[in-house]
Amino acid sequence: MKNPIRVAITGAAGQIGYALLFRIASGQMFGPEQPVILQLIEVPFEKAMKALEGVAMELEDCAFPLLHGIVQTSDPAVGFKDANWSLLVGAKPRGPGMERADLLKDNGKIFIEQGKIIDAVAADDARVAVVGNPANTNAMIAASQAKRLPAERFTAMVRLDENRARAQLAKKAGVPLTAVTDTFIFGNHSPSMFPAFHIAKINGKPVPQVITDAAWLQGPFCDTVGKRGAAIIAARGLSSAASAANALVDHVHDLMTPGKIHSVAVKSNGEYGFDPNVWAGMPVKTTSPGSFEVIKRMPLDEFAKQKIAATNAELVGEREIIKGML
Ligand code: NAD
Ligand code: LMR
Repeated sequence: MKNPIRVAITGAAGQIGYALLFRIASGQMFGPEQPVILQLIEVPFEKAMKALEGVAMELEDCAFPLLHGIVQTSDPAVGFKDANWSLLVGAKPRGPGMERADLLKDNGKIFIEQGKIIDAVAADDARVAVVGNPANTNAMIAASQAKRLPAERFTAMVRLDENRARAQLAKKAGVPLTAVTDTFIFGNHSPSMFPAFHIAKINGKPVPQVITDAAWLQGPFCDTVGKRGAAIIAARGLSSAASAANALVDHVHDLMTPGKIHSVAVKSNGEYGFDPNVWAGMPVKTTSPGSFEVIKRMPLDEFAKQKIAATNAELVGEREIIKGML
């Protein structure tokens, strides 16, 4: 049996936490041979800590063989101690009528503090995945506080958008999900994101050759994927949770699996015209567990270039808003 890895999860008693922890403990994130110690972090209020206690009891009651320990804490210095992965979920979700960027001022502060503490106490091989919204800019904020850990260790999740795009394309084409590949998300986890349908494939053929309705691809398809989070909030009264947890399992699993090509929001070094030092969704290839390279030179047509310019402008705007906080 391998040595256990330490996985810190903030917001562990929240909606996403409840859909996530059991999947990590059962081996779906790190594989069936990899034991884990879950370091659960919540806010220091009685209600949250009580709820966390209940979740920890349920985790114990599952008798997962891979679960080698549970830490429950409201002290981030304890929760992130020696963590190999830190999953930053804990943050305010938006409500109806809000955009994710409206959360920036409140949630941004959380990521300043957590970026500093992770940098100080997490393991040398620490990796960070940000889910709390607005996820791209929060990852940039956390990374900006790190002196020890390189910026590449901080990623944000656009995998939910990739999964949404695949599902919409499969439904429209009337094919099984497995027939749809190469669905990459460029830019921000917001309605401005670009689900790059011109690169995606159905049974190995470019999507526009299979779904020949260009107006649907450029309009309703991009809108449905970009505004899916709001549609779920309107329907449930709460933001997506199970699908977000599922996407985080995919995000980390694929970052730990060499050879996987998937969408991750990472620090831009100017690829595809993104401003350096925004965290933009791009296709990456996992090179070794936890490490990746951005796949450069995917072809961009005029529509793709316009969409990427718009989502880049939004990311630069978000960076401007929080500049004074860093
Ligand atoms: P929730 O309100 O159900 O749970 C959030 C939990 O985080 C709460 O239990 C809260 O006490 C805790 N928390 C808040 N601040 C914290 C801090 N500083 N440290 C530790 N814990 C803290 O919300 P949720 O539905 O689980 O969503 C969490 C976040 O994820 C929101 O910001 C939401 O918008 C975002 N989200 C992102 C995606 C994505 O694709 N990137 C998808 C869904 C949701
Ligand atoms: C989502 O895309 O479902 C999440 O980011 C939640 C939200 O606010 O839309």
